[in-house]
Amino acid sequence: MTAPAQGVIPSPNIWRHPDVYELENRAVDPDGVIETAMRSVRDWRSATVLDVGCGSGFHLPRFAADAARVIGVEPHPPLVELARRRTAGLAAVDVRAGTAQRLPVPDASVDVVHARWAYFFGPGCEPGLRELTRVLRRGGAAFVIDNDATRSTFGRWFLRAFPGYDAGEVERFWARQGWSRTPLLMRWACASRAEFEAVVRIEFAQSLADEILAEHPGSEVDYAVNLFWRTV
Ligand SMILES: C[S@@+](CC[C@H](N)C(=O)[O-])C[C@H]1O[C@@H](n2cnc3c(N)ncnc32)[C@H](O)[C@@H]1O
Repeated sequence: MTAPAQGVIPSPNIWRHPDVYELENRAVDPDGVIETAMRSVRDWRSATVLDVGCGSGFHLPRFAADAARVIGVEPHPPLVELARRRTAGLAAVDVRAGTAQRLPVPDASVDVVHARWAYFFGPGCEPGLRELTRVLRRGGAAFVIDNDATRSTFGRWFLRAFPGYDAGEVERFWARQGWSRTPLLMRWACASRAEFEAVVRIEFAQSLADEILAEHPGSEVDYAVNLFWRTV
């Protein structure tokens, strides 16, 4: 793999294993906890939605079911291609190559921004936050979805993988930026144990994945996330 362009955060899970990441996306939040929480803040019916770091575009058709217009922005060229292919038949969807720090989107042109496990991981994402302020229209909202390492089985796995991760620092960062936090508890529910194992193996290094799979039976796990959001 060539070195990532400047300001692009390597995402080995989806970059190296887009097919397994697709299974992961299908397993995430079967109860719609995240979507329900987002809609209670700002619905996107007839709105313009921007998905920053859209990856292979998994969420774009979902937004397009209700939105007037959906723009996906993604820096990794093979994923831009996959997202374009996924949405080729959807006239309302447009996939653009770009980064959160330099969104290829005009000022005040977007109603709802969604960034899920992409770029906005706390301290350091200020350039992207400035861009969100630039592109959001009055009455709009921005949503960031990220792991909550303080709770849940998945949160404990995440802390084992990143023992230095400071969840408190991340939460304080968002509060300082004037964002709200809605803690959510959802689950991963894979279609089979084989899919669950494959997904765990793209998220964790081999030795930790072996430990997790030895101690955790079945094809599901409880997974806490934070929905950070701001309205303008
Ligand atoms: C873990 S993936 C999540 C993809 C997608 N949001 C999803 O939920 O399916 C993170 C994505 O962020 C993208 N990314 C990395 N650096 C970025 C940046 N500076 N601006 C926007 N996206 C970025 C990666 O290329 C990758 O597609």
